[in-house]
Amino acid sequence: MLSKLILLLLVILISCGDSVLDKGCSCNEIKSENDCKRIQCKYENGECKDRELETYCKLESTIGKCPVDGCALYENICQAFSGCTAYLGKNFDVCNKISDLCTSDGERCVALSTCDSYKSKTSCLIDSNGQYCYYDESDIANPQCKTVTTCKNLPLTLKTDGECRQQLLTCTVNESNTGGCIDSGKSCSDQKIKQQCVTNIDQTMECKWNETTNQCYDYSCENGNGKTVDDCQKYKKNCVLAETQDGISNICKNIDECINYKFKETCKIGLLGNCLWLITQIDGKDAGKCVDYNCSQASDDYTNDQLCTKFLDTCTVDDDNLGCKIRESLCTSYLQVSQCVSTINQQQCYWNKSQQQCINYDCENAQVDSYTIDNCNKFLSLCTANTELTSCVKKQCTDAITSQLCTKLGQCIWQDNKCVSYTCVNAPTSLTTNDACNKYLDKCYTTGAGCSSHGKCTDMKTQTACTIDSLNQKCIWINSACKVKTCSDLIYISHSECNNELNTCTSNGIKCINQATQCSDYKIQLSCVISSQGPCLWTDSQCFLFIGCSTLPGITHQFCNFANTKCTTDGTKCVSITSCAKTSQTGCYIGTDGDCVRNLDKNNNTVCEKFTKCSQMNYSTHFQCNRENQTCTINIDKKSCMDLSNSCSSYTIQDNCQITTDNKYCQWDTSTTKCRDQKCTDIVKTTHIDCQLANFKCTTDASKCIDIQKCDGYTVSDLCKFGSDGICIYDTANSKCRLKQCNDITDVKQCSTLPNCLPDTSNCVSKSTCSLYKTEKSCEFDGTDGICTWSNNTCSVMTKCEDANTFEKGCKKKSDICKWTPKPSNGGSSFCKPYTCQSKNSGGSCLPLLAFGETQYEICAEIQLTCQSASISDLTEDTCFINSAKSHYWDKTTNKCLACNGTTATNTTMIDDSNSFIIGTIYLFIAFLQY
Ligand SMILES: *[C@@H]1O[C@H](CO)[C@@H](O)[C@H](O)[C@H]1NC(C)=O
Ligand SMILES: *[C@@H]1O[C@H](CO)[C@@H](O)[C@H](O)[C@H]1NC(C)=O
Ligand SMILES: *[C@@H]1O[C@H](CO)[C@@H](O)[C@H](O)[C@H]1NC(C)=O
Ligand SMILES: *[C@@H]1O[C@H](CO)[C@@H](O)[C@H](O)[C@H]1NC(C)=O
Ligand SMILES: *[C@@H]1O[C@H](CO)[C@@H](O)[C@H](O)[C@H]1NC(C)=O
Ligand SMILES: *[C@@H]1O[C@H](CO)[C@@H](O)[C@H](O)[C@H]1NC(C)=O
Repeated sequence: MLSKLILLLLVILISCGDSVLDKGCSCNEIKSENDCKRIQCKYENGECKDRELETYCKLESTIGKCPVDGCALYENICQAFSGCTAYLGKNFDVCNKISDLCTSDGERCVALSTCDSYKSKTSCLIDSNGQYCYYDESDIANPQCKTVTTCKNLPLTLKTDGECRQQLLTCTVNESNTGGCIDSGKSCSDQKIKQQCVTNIDQTMECKWNETTNQCYDYSCENGNGKTVDDCQKYKKNCVLAETQDGISNICKNIDECINYKFKETCKIGLLGNCLWLITQIDGKDAGKCVDYNCSQASDDYTNDQLCTKFLDTCTVDDDNLGCKIRESLCTSYLQVSQCVSTINQQQCYWNKSQQQCINYDCENAQVDSYTIDNCNKFLSLCTANTELTSCVKKQCTDAITSQLCTKLGQCIWQDNKCVSYTCVNAPTSLTTNDACNKYLDKCYTTGAGCSSHGKCTDMKTQTACTIDSLNQKCIWINSACKVKTCSDLIYISHSECNNELNTCTSNGIKCINQATQCSDYKIQLSCVISSQGPCLWTDSQCFLFIGCSTLPGITHQFCNFANTKCTTDGTKCVSITSCAKTSQTGCYIGTDGDCVRNLDKNNNTVCEKFTKCSQMNYSTHFQCNRENQTCTINIDKKSCMDLSNSCSSYTIQDNCQITTDNKYCQWDTSTTKCRDQKCTDIVKTTHIDCQLANFKCTTDASKCIDIQKCDGYTVSDLCKFGSDGICIYDTANSKCRLKQCNDITDVKQCSTLPNCLPDTSNCVSKSTCSLYKTEKSCEFDGTDGICTWSNNTCSVMTKCEDANTFEKGCKKKSDICKWTPKPSNGGSSFCKPYTCQSKNSGGSCLPLLAFGETQYEICAEIQLTCQSASISDLTEDTCFINSAKSHYWDKTTNKCLACNGTTATNTTMIDDSNSFIIGTIYLFIAFLQY
C-alpha cells in the first residue's frame, strides 16, 4: 500500500514537468516491466520502448478500421482526413478507398457531390447521397453527367432485381448476364428469366417461376390448384378452394366470408376465422349452410355454461339460457348466476348471494360468517385470514406447506422443500450464468451466485461475474464489490490504455479521465485524441477538432499548414490543399503539386500556378516579382521576372538594381549607369529610423544616411545616439561619444532600458559576478557566476545552504534544497540548512534529495520505518527505480538495483564541500541537466 502511495505521488511529481527526476534512464535501458510502466514507456514483447504519440487515426489503423470518419487511408498510412482534394487518385476506386467521401476527377480526388457538378466521365459515378450518375454523351460536343432516371442507365454492378428496384422502382435485372438493369415486365408473364420473376412492374403482384415450362406467372390464388382447402392454404396463405356451380373445383381462389361457401368441404376458413357447417331443417329437409363459427351460432339446445363451453371455449350461456354468447371480460359484467363461472381470461367468478352480484372468486371477496383462518381456508384453499381477522387474504408463498398448494398460489415455487416466491432473487445460488437464470425465470440475470432481476453491476456477487451488466455497461471489481466501471477507477498513463478499458475515457498522463465534450477542453497533447465532437488534433500547444481543414480556427497559411501539411488557407479560413491551378489567388501558397505562386495570365488576370522558376512570372516591376517570391526580381525586358543575382554589379538596369541573393542592397549609379553596392550615403533620409528601414547598416547625420559606427567612432555630439555596439552617450567632460553604461542612468525606474542593468536602491548596476555587487540589495540579484549571498557586508557566490545562514532571500532561492529557519524571537540565530531525507520527505514519500549543485542526488530509503540516507544497495524491487531518481532499475535475474547501463553501481562517495552531509552517502550523477 505504501509503495503504491509513493508511486502515485511520484507520478504526480513527474507529470509536473520540470522535475529533475525526469532525467532518468531512457525507456530502452529499463529491463523491468514494473519500472517501465512507471514512466511514459510501453512494455511490449519483453522490451521497454518509447511510447509513440497517439493520434486518433493511428489508433484506428491499429484496429484495422481505416478509412473511417475523420481518417483517410493514403499511401498506406491512416491519417487525419483533410479533404478529398489533398489526395491524388486517377479513378473512383482509388479515391473512394482513400475516403468514402471522395471520387476522382481523373487526376486527383474530389468530394462526392451532385451528378451535374461532375465535369469528367471518371468522376461521374455516384452522387453524395449514393444515387447513381451516368455520363450522357448523346451530345458529343457537350457531354454531361446526370442523375440516372432510366433503368438502362443504371450501372452494370447491379446484379439482382432487388438491387435494381432499390435504385428505381420500375427496374429489374437485365436478362443478359452482364448485369445492369432494364424496365420491368408489366406483369409477371412478361418477365423473361427467373431472376426477374419477383414482382410485376408496380409491385402489386408477386411472381413465381414455373420450372417445367420456364415461365413466370402471377403468384395468385387463381393460379394454384388442389383438392382440399388445406392444399390451397399450403400453396398460399390467403387462398381457399374454389367452387363450381355443383361441386368443388380443383383450383384455388382468394379467401372469402364463410357465408359465401356453399359446400361442407369448402366451409373451413373465412375472412374472420373458422367457419361452421350448420344443418337446419328447411321444409322438413336437412339443409346445410356455412356460417362464422361463433357463440351465437349455438342452437337453443345449449342451455348452460358447461354445454356452451363445449361448443366453443369462449362461450357461456345466453341471457335467456337458450343458446350461447361470448364470455365477458369481468365477473361483474355477468348478471345471472348461470353465467357467473369464469371470464374470457379464465378468472373464476362467484355469485354473491346477499348482493346478488357476480364477483371474482378470490380471497378478497370471501363470503364468510367471520374472518377466521378456518373459514377463509374453507372458502378457498388459497386463502387465510389477515392478522386482525378483518378479511381473508391470499396465503404467502411461505405459508404453503405442500408443493400442490405452493403451485396453486401462483408466482410461488417449491424448492428445497419450501415454498418461496418465484422471483429472480430466490433462484438457487448454484445458477451462475445468464442462460441458467433466464431458464429459471424469464428476464433473470446471473449474479455469479444466483440471479437478480436487473443484472446490474452492483448485483454481481463474484469477481468472475463482474464483467458486463444487462445494460451492456462494463463492471469493475473493487474492494470485494462490483460496480459500474468509470474512467476514474482506472489508472493508466496513455489514451489507448484507458480507451481499451472503457471507450469513453482518455488519460491525463496520470490516470484515466472522461473524454471531454470538446477537443479544446484538453490541455495536454496526450489526452488530445478524441472528444464527443469528434477526432482532435494537437497543434501549437492547443487541441482542436479536426474533421477536415475547415474545423481549424485559423486563417493564415502558416497556421493551417502547420496544423496539417495538407491544409492551407483560402484567405479567410483553412481549406484542403488542391493543385496550384485550382487554388484561389487569396490562398496561393502550396498545392498538391508543390509551391504555388500568383501570376498574371494573358488577360492580366491574377491566377495561381505551380512555381517552377522566377522567369515564369509576367510582372513588370521589381516590387511585384519580389513580392511573389523573394528570390526573384524584374528581368531586363521588364515583362517577366528573373532570379536575384548574388552581386549588385551583375544587374544591368536600374529597375532590378535592388537587392542581392544575400540581402545586400544595391545602388544605381547614374553617372556610370551601372549597378553597385549601396553605401549609406547614397540614401537621403533624415531620421535614424528611415535610414534603418532603407538599410539596417545605416543611421543618419540629419541630412543623409551614414554608416552606423561604434559609439566611440562618432565625433559629433549630434550623431552620438545609435552605435553598432549599443546606445551611445556623449560624455561632455571628455568631449567624447561612448557606450551608455548602467550608471549613466540616474532614474532607477529606467534601469531596464539598457540590457543587463539592474535596479539597486538608488542607482542602476550592471549584472556581474556576485562579488562586484556592493550593497545587500544588489546582492539579491543573481550573479553571472550563480546565486549570491550577503554576509559580513560582502556579496559572494552561494555554494552551500549554510552560506545564507543570515540571508533569507538567498536561502529561499534554493528552497527546494535548503530549509530556512528564521531567527527565534527569543534570540539566537537564523539558519539555512540543507534538507535531510527525513526533513524533506513526509507523509510516506521517501524521495531522493537533490544536492546543492543540482547535478547529484542523495539516495533516501525507508529503513526501519524512517526515511533516511541510504545507498543503492538498500533499495528494493519496489523502490529501486523511484528512489534512485529513475536512474536505476530492478534487475529480476540478479535481484539487484542496476544503473541504466546495466552495471552495478560503484559506491562513489563524493564529498561535496558545498554541502554538509553524512559520510557514505551516494550521489548520482545526472548526465544532462537543463537549466
Ligand atoms: C407449371 O406449368 C405446367 C404446365 O402448364 C403445369 O402443369 C404445372 O402445374 C406448373 N407448375 C407449377 C408449380 O405451377
Ligand atoms: C497587361 O498589363 C500590361 C502592363 O500594365 C500592359 O502593357 C498590357 O498591355 C496588358 N495586357 C493586356 C492583355 O491587357
Ligand atoms: C521561391 O523560389 C525558390 C526558388 O527560386 C523556391 O525554392 C521557393 O520555394 C519559392 N518560395 C515560395 C514561397 O514560393
Ligand atoms: C564572516 O565573519 C566571521 C567573523 O569574522 C567569520 O567567522 C565568517 O567565516 C565570515 N563569513 C564569511 C561568509 O566570510
Ligand atoms: C554506467 O553508469 C554508471 C552510473 O551512471 C557510471 O558510473 C558507469 O561509468 C557506467 N558504466 C559504463 C560501462 O558505461
Ligand atoms: C556500497 O556501500 C554499501 C554500504 O554503504 C556496502 O554495503 C556495499 O558493499 C558497497 N558496494 C560496493 C560495490 O562497494
